[in-house]
Amino acid sequence: MFCDIVDSTPLAATLDLETLQSLIDTYQQQVADCVARYDGFVAKFMGDGVLAYFGYPQAHEDDAERAVRAALDIVAAMPTLRHVDGLELACRIGIASGVVVVGDSITVGAAGEKSVLGETPNLAARLQETAPRNGVIVAASTRTLVANLFDLKTIDPLTLKGVGSGIMAWQVIAARDDASRFRATRDPSSAEFIGRDAELALVLDRWSVAAAGEGQLFLLSGEPGLGKSRLCETMLAQIATETHAEIRLQCSPYHVNSPLYPVLRHLERAAGLVHDDTPAIRRGDFARLFASDEEAERAILLLGPALGLLDAVPADAAPSGSKTEVLVLLQRLLIAPAAEHPLCILVEDAHWIDPTTQELLSLLIERLGNQRVLLLITHRPEFTPPWRSPIHHTRLAMNRLSTRACTSLIGDLARGKRLPEEVVRQIVAKSDGVPLFVEELTKSVLESGLLTEEHDSWGLDEPLPLLAIPSSLHDSFMARLDRMASVKEVAQVR
Ligand SMILES: Nc1ncnc2c1ncn2[C@@H]1O[C@H](COP(=O)(O)OP(=O)(O)O)[C@@H](O)[C@H]1O
Ligand SMILES: [Mg+2]
Repeated sequence: MFCDIVDSTPLAATLDLETLQSLIDTYQQQVADCVARYDGFVAKFMGDGVLAYFGYPQAHEDDAERAVRAALDIVAAMPTLRHVDGLELACRIGIASGVVVVGDSITVGAAGEKSVLGETPNLAARLQETAPRNGVIVAASTRTLVANLFDLKTIDPLTLKGVGSGIMAWQVIAARDDASRFRATRDPSSAEFIGRDAELALVLDRWSVAAAGEGQLFLLSGEPGLGKSRLCETMLAQIATETHAEIRLQCSPYHVNSPLYPVLRHLERAAGLVHDDTPAIRRGDFARLFASDEEAERAILLLGPALGLLDAVPADAAPSGSKTEVLVLLQRLLIAPAAEHPLCILVEDAHWIDPTTQELLSLLIERLGNQRVLLLITHRPEFTPPWRSPIHHTRLAMNRLSTRACTSLIGDLARGKRLPEEVVRQIVAKSDGVPLFVEELTKSVLESGLLTEEHDSWGLDEPLPLLAIPSSLHDSFMARLDRMASVKEVAQVR
């Protein structure tokens, strides 16, 4: 990510040196804070410009998304720098994704080309120059990684110095706040649901027990990409014909310490709160979630500050309720639909849950006994669920897909056309039974141009080179390696 101030030269002419310096300092501090918030790394301050890396020194599975979120936060923070002599300080941001070699012992590639090393930062810097005031522009490489998570606007192809012409780029408009990360990032062209019959049958069985009035807690664990979300979505699709209610609580990697984050987002969606509406309108919408005016008024007092329902928060206002009261209210609100219909509460990615939501779920679980509720919670293996249930309670650890299932998944992704045996063998071996890896590897082979599409098969003209790691998986692999620090060096040597 490259971020620079718009028109800093006239600024320098208008302001005295000290004011200018303190303004730039504040701006750079602000940028550094936003970058740090998403675990990025400020590589360099270049004049008023800032170059930041996401994915180095610590990789995450979602570094591209982190970069874009940080950029949006930087832009949102710019107005606080505005008040100096009526001048409006603005920035421009460019983001590109790719592999960068970091370090002092930079080796030149076999063909002698040096540009590879700096291509991505350079592209980000050039894109930044084309951005509108307080605008964020992303390269195609970044767009493929974040397309469904943000609203993006296509801009005219660019000619960039040192890069080329006809360069595609997009402007980031806003983050989308979806009820489900799975749905937001899912490729609609993905394969049929394959090879999880036993798991699906188990969840459906627990649903039918819950629907009959014996509340159930179901904990589904598995590594990223194994298919937890897909299993839940498939289960919900299967019960779509039954009258029932659904609540989704999506935990977020960016809000692990933000109290009740998934619950507040759910309430906003349930009440249809619109971001730009006035507090009065938001209050009106919110009140409709409650059966009585009295209840609604109390809830507005308790949750008003967190949901932007109050016109002004009086400075000397005493806390308007205890945490217990808030939790009890939310617990009642969550469970309320079960009075009408069987209810499925899906809590996704509990490894990112905040402590308060965790407490709320504990409270909910205590009350689950004779409710028509299935509380279905997904999480990664490193998270130890703190919940004990006095009632019926199932744990399922998902396993790798079998080779047979992987093979049939590959076949499906190849649009039913037969792939050369060698290709299938390599994908199965490399993906290690993780459906996400099967999907991404297969897609990248099909898009690589190594294969020619024939009537009912894919042909391979030359011997298959070792499959490279597709860019969509690069972050995940790096994050996995970083978690296993001791093997990283070995992997690099290979
Ligand atoms: N049983 C399956 N059959 C076909 N595709 C699957 C299956 N399980 C997972 N996938 C695909 O693999 C990818 C990762 O699955 P996902 O449910 O997002 O994993 P998790 O939630 O465990 O991280 C998704 O694109 C999903 O559609
Ligand atoms: Mg998931």
